[in-house]
Amino acid sequence: MQYKGNSIVKEGKAVQLDDGVYWVGALDPDLRSFDIILNTANGTSYNSYLIEGSEGYALIDTVKAEFADDFFARLESVTDYSKIKAIVLNHLEPDHTGALPELLKRAPQARVYISQRAQSMLKALLKDSSENLEFQVVNTGEQISLGDCTLTFLSTPFLHWPDTQCTYLEEREILFSGDVFGCHFCDGRLFNDKVGDFRFSFDYYYAHIMRPFKKWVLEALDLIDPLDLRIIAPTHGPILRDRPRRYVNHYRELASNSLSGELGTNEKSMIVFYMSSYGNTARMAEAISVGAGSISGVRVSMFDLQGGETEPFVDLIEEADALILGSPTINGDAVKPIWDLLSSLIVVDLKGKVGAAFGSFGWSGEAVRMIEDRLRGLKLRVPQQGLRVKLIPNDEELEDCYNFGKDIASILIGKKKECKVLEFGEL
Ligand code: FEO
Repeated sequence: MQYKGNSIVKEGKAVQLDDGVYWVGALDPDLRSFDIILNTANGTSYNSYLIEGSEGYALIDTVKAEFADDFFARLESVTDYSKIKAIVLNHLEPDHTGALPELLKRAPQARVYISQRAQSMLKALLKDSSENLEFQVVNTGEQISLGDCTLTFLSTPFLHWPDTQCTYLEEREILFSGDVFGCHFCDGRLFNDKVGDFRFSFDYYYAHIMRPFKKWVLEALDLIDPLDLRIIAPTHGPILRDRPRRYVNHYRELASNSLSGELGTNEKSMIVFYMSSYGNTARMAEAISVGAGSISGVRVSMFDLQGGETEPFVDLIEEADALILGSPTINGDAVKPIWDLLSSLIVVDLKGKVGAAFGSFGWSGEAVRMIEDRLRGLKLRVPQQGLRVKLIPNDEELEDCYNFGKDIASILIGKKKECKVLEFGEL
């Protein structure tokens, strides 16, 4: 149990992180997978915070249900429930609201503060017991007072669910940031200047939790940038008290397009990926790429998936304007590397990009339509019916490929109208 050695976290005790501010969360060092999709090599923490004001206490978030006893014991080490005036829910995912139903029973006088988008989630979470619950919806800039200290709310949706918000303690310059600036890293030394090296966990968490919502990250950073920051207190991982601004700046770097500047102004990027068993789909890819590249203002890149790892391509695709995929049909399906690539795109925002599919086939040729369906499912626009060639493309068919690439490139720069594309079931 790595958190028990030089840990400052003791059973049944809160940890003071600033004047009148306490950590009352829980450590989960044995967790190895979070939300099914994230590996957690040394566990995680569920950070909850208690703020003491001259006119009462405010709680920021709770913990996962299994850790409710830890949370209540730490809370009781500082105050009793009757003094809790406010419960702020920055995020309603169960890892932060597991102890909420019981907390509401113990502190029925406390008012609950949530974001606009959190209302339906709160009702769904509490079901019948939500009927008599008094809660208040708060937006950016709205404040509540605890007497000698003030909490200001910042609406930061989609980080990492639609309901998320941050809360800023004005007098102490502490940002309770929810999942933002968090990571799955369990270390009982709690503070970023004391814990082990968590850089990997920080970036890994960003890549899997925040990256699909880059636009929202940048909007949140615009709200956070002007704040004076002494401490950032996220819901997972180390509390960032040593040079917290570094993490804000790092988020901005992560959320900005790393390839910016590679493409010319007004230039569009198209990436063609393919797999080929007898070289036929490869010939199609080549002709499509040449055709697309003949359109001024479109930069085309072509990759054989057989020669690449999927992960680095995700960065390219995130910043590309068009994604064209070629696969032969084998046993009525596209080949596995194509599906692997597509499933790895869950971490990026693809909405509105142009997508298309092509491929050579020997018998039934379902792969192209199946890929198109998946592209639509990922919210790409599929403006051109996919191109299929039976076995070896002849000169005429290669000419069709050339024109296919040219047409998609023309659509990409707005020089050609999109076609009506039939979906799989309509064919
Ligand atoms: Fe830590 Fe999105 O919950």
